[in-house]
Amino acid sequence: MENFSMLNRPRRNRKSAVIRNMVQENYVQASNLIFPLFIVDGEKKKETIASMPGIYRYSIDNLLKEVESCLNIGLKAFDLFPNIEEHLKDKTASQAYINGGLYLRAIEAVKKNFPEACIVTDVAMDPYSSDGHDGLVSEDGEILNDETLEILGKMALAQAHAGADIIAPSDMMDGRVGYIRNVLDQHGFSNVSIMSYTAKYASAFYGPFREALQSAPKAGDKKTYQMNPANSKEALIEAMLDTQEGADFLMVKPALAYLDIIKQLNEQFDLPIAAYNVSGEYAMVKASVQNGWLDEGRTVGEILMGMRRAGATAILTYHAKEAIQNKWI
Ligand code: PBG
Repeated sequence: MENFSMLNRPRRNRKSAVIRNMVQENYVQASNLIFPLFIVDGEKKKETIASMPGIYRYSIDNLLKEVESCLNIGLKAFDLFPNIEEHLKDKTASQAYINGGLYLRAIEAVKKNFPEACIVTDVAMDPYSSDGHDGLVSEDGEILNDETLEILGKMALAQAHAGADIIAPSDMMDGRVGYIRNVLDQHGFSNVSIMSYTAKYASAFYGPFREALQSAPKAGDKKTYQMNPANSKEALIEAMLDTQEGADFLMVKPALAYLDIIKQLNEQFDLPIAAYNVSGEYAMVKASVQNGWLDEGRTVGEILMGMRRAGATAILTYHAKEAIQNKWI
């Protein structure tokens, strides 16, 4: 094979670490990551979640300790989710907006102790609803859109009062971004951002999350409001509407099976794209690692990189703390 001539040898750009680093196109940094945290009422609680090893439900005192230890390693953005006791749930999700509700107390406590922490708050009825749905359920089991908006507006406003930096509606009701934007602006919260769950699919990958919050629907499924996994054009419609309604971020959820959606939204819209690396995706990795089948650090690094390469700026991920601590990114 002497003097074999080949003009293009892509391996030349891989021949040393220096060159490989020189041509590297994408990075995952701590600043890209948002860490979801689960909250439970009471004191000194740190409850395990069977399908999410390494993730806990914290009472507010322990939540503050967890936030502090994250801040110390450069993890500064958090998305909070409450586990509400069954007897406090009702049709109208009142625990989400009444004075002294667990969620609002948690937001206030974090902001008071750590003003530098960026708090993303979740707007949807399911954790507080006796029906376990994201919207209001009619007598005959229909999820009512416009009636739900009023409740979502109250939730968002209460969260803004408590100190939320970014409000993230995860409910998939039509028109909620515009409705919430209007309520916030009317009450002097024009600086509070909206990270819309723009393309949220009706997914099997939310199972472990529903275990964490004990928030599974009591009847039916979420297919009349969450999207059909077979479709991508609907994501473009949702993204167009959210952009017009004043969203600051467009989110795709889940992330791994929907990297094409992340890419399409990133190419067609100018707003930053967020990806939600959801509970079931986390559980798959943890289960394989526990069996000794995958190398956790390399797997997590590669998954997060794939989301960045597809076009996500922000990634909500349960791996966030370990990824930074163990230098997986
Ligand atoms: C519900 C909500 C869900 C998640 C975030 N907000 C689940 C659902 O729609 O049932 C899932 C997050 C995860 O699986 O990590 N408003």
